[in-house]
Amino acid sequence: MTTRPPDRPLEHRRVLYGRRRGRPLHRGQQALVETLLPRLAVTLPAAGTLDPATLFDPRPDEVWLEIGFGSGEHLAVQAAAHPAIGFIGCEVFENGVAKLLAEVQRRALANVRILTDDARLLIAALPSASIGRVFILFPDPWPKQRHHKRRIVAGETLAALAAIMTDGAELRLATDDLDYLASMLARVPTHPAFAWLADRPSDWRVRPADWPATRYEAKAIAAGRRPYFLRFCRRPR
Ligand SMILES: C[S@@+](CC[C@H](N)C(=O)[O-])C[C@H]1O[C@@H](n2cnc3c(N)ncnc32)[C@H](O)[C@@H]1O
Repeated sequence: MTTRPPDRPLEHRRVLYGRRRGRPLHRGQQALVETLLPRLAVTLPAAGTLDPATLFDPRPDEVWLEIGFGSGEHLAVQAAAHPAIGFIGCEVFENGVAKLLAEVQRRALANVRILTDDARLLIAALPSASIGRVFILFPDPWPKQRHHKRRIVAGETLAALAAIMTDGAELRLATDDLDYLASMLARVPTHPAFAWLADRPSDWRVRPADWPATRYEAKAIAAGRRPYFLRFCRRPR
């Protein structure tokens, strides 16, 4: 299980909102949490940095990070499609973690590791230029103005992502919330570290073929909301 580094600020822990638990896990899920999760769980170092490649054996070509993987359907498909890449998924919702564990077992994935805690604690522990791709798909939109400061795609996290991403690494964001979309587009392409990989409207209106759909995308479409897909490149340092 994860341990919280005592020498790192705890502010993020205090501002982590949202559900950690939903329905009780059924027996099979509970068994996976007890047996499989301890083998895949990322333990944050008490001090210093964590080289993410050392979490995998053999050492992967790159490490990719998914923040708030929900039920893990996107992460599992990506991990199956890219066996030489190490995947770290961060999710605080226990039922979602249990669903990803079931997929890891069903697909016999050897390249998935899981942080069951606030992704920002991991980001703070990662060395510079250690992550080859980042996915933040349908992050909680926090629609009320007074809650906007809870959004994960914001100044502090964006700067931290720029630091941990390798030159040329891709940042993939999705949202169905127009206000959050506007906020993302106001912040990311104007950040000196990121360039927007879009030439035409279809580049952000149509989900790329190598980008599996998620549960929240399906929910958005079912509710009549349009999903948007943003790809950014980490500029060379
Ligand atoms: C709206 S859901 C989207 C889930 C999934 N990406 C999808 O598209 O179906 C956002 C998820 O992010 C998780 N989350 C929010 N803040 C997080 C954080 N700081 N670290 C890790 N997970 C987080 C929530 O628990 C939730 O499951």
